[in-house]
Amino acid sequence: MTAVLGRGVIPADETFLAGDDLGVLRGDGVFETANVRAGEPFLLEEHLARMVRSAERMQLDLPDVTKLAELAADACQAFGKDREGALRIICTRGPEGGGPPTVYMTLNPVPAAMIAARRDGLNLAVLSLGYPVDVRGESPWLLGGAKCLSYAVAMAAQRHAKATGHDDLLWRSEDGFALEGPTSTLIWQQGDTLYTVPSDTGILVGTTAKFVFDRAREAGIATAERRVQVAELIGADGIWMTSSVRGIAPVHTLDNVSINQSDLSATLSEFGGFPVPTS
Ligand SMILES: Cc1ncc(COP(=O)(O)O)c(C=O)c1O
Repeated sequence: MTAVLGRGVIPADETFLAGDDLGVLRGDGVFETANVRAGEPFLLEEHLARMVRSAERMQLDLPDVTKLAELAADACQAFGKDREGALRIICTRGPEGGGPPTVYMTLNPVPAAMIAARRDGLNLAVLSLGYPVDVRGESPWLLGGAKCLSYAVAMAAQRHAKATGHDDLLWRSEDGFALEGPTSTLIWQQGDTLYTVPSDTGILVGTTAKFVFDRAREAGIATAERRVQVAELIGADGIWMTSSVRGIAPVHTLDNVSINQSDLSATLSEFGGFPVPTS
């Protein structure tokens, strides 16, 4: 399903994007993906706030977020309450040569394979992003931490991971630090504490990981941010990849090494409100 700002939900065969749109020509734009549950976008405010920050980083004029929230509500209403959905909110720089940004949303069911991974876990490759850990923090033009449309490198890395027998991958910096997945946040457990990677490494700060960490702290589980070398991460007491679509998926194999399976998995999925299939 597609909904366009100023037009609402449109029929599937209606056009809305010009061939010279800079989102298509250059991947020049920002986006968000929110989980839709019981017909409502989950953590919409947090996603829109991150979209505003991404647009500021790219000097892109984002329309008023209340208009985006209204369009999201229209799309969710048309989608119904029965299925878990993935709502993409997209804002491109618009047609080449100047013109208003193109703003639209798509809403589709969450793929079954994503839901199954919450139960079955993930076998991840570790691939180099090619930069030392501090480079993206020091180089704003690399757009670390901004959720921009240019995911061609991320998709190429996922194809490479799949071609070599993995489900997905974990990016590592050139100097050996674990960063994030191409579309997910890394969290791990060491002893009684849950950790994630700090934003000064240029990762995208995940809404799901933040929400789950807030719930974990309320439940008395310690959380912290720190840099971790991949070699150390492999010995963690549990590793998960989190995202609005994926939910909380445990990692069972990293770089061909078996990872300890923590008994916190079900609790974390519950904190995030992500259904885990039982059979
Ligand atoms: C690079 C990257 N990191 C992390 C995430 C997870 O973010 P969230 O939990 O907000 O979906 C995403 C989501 O697509 C992503 O693209």
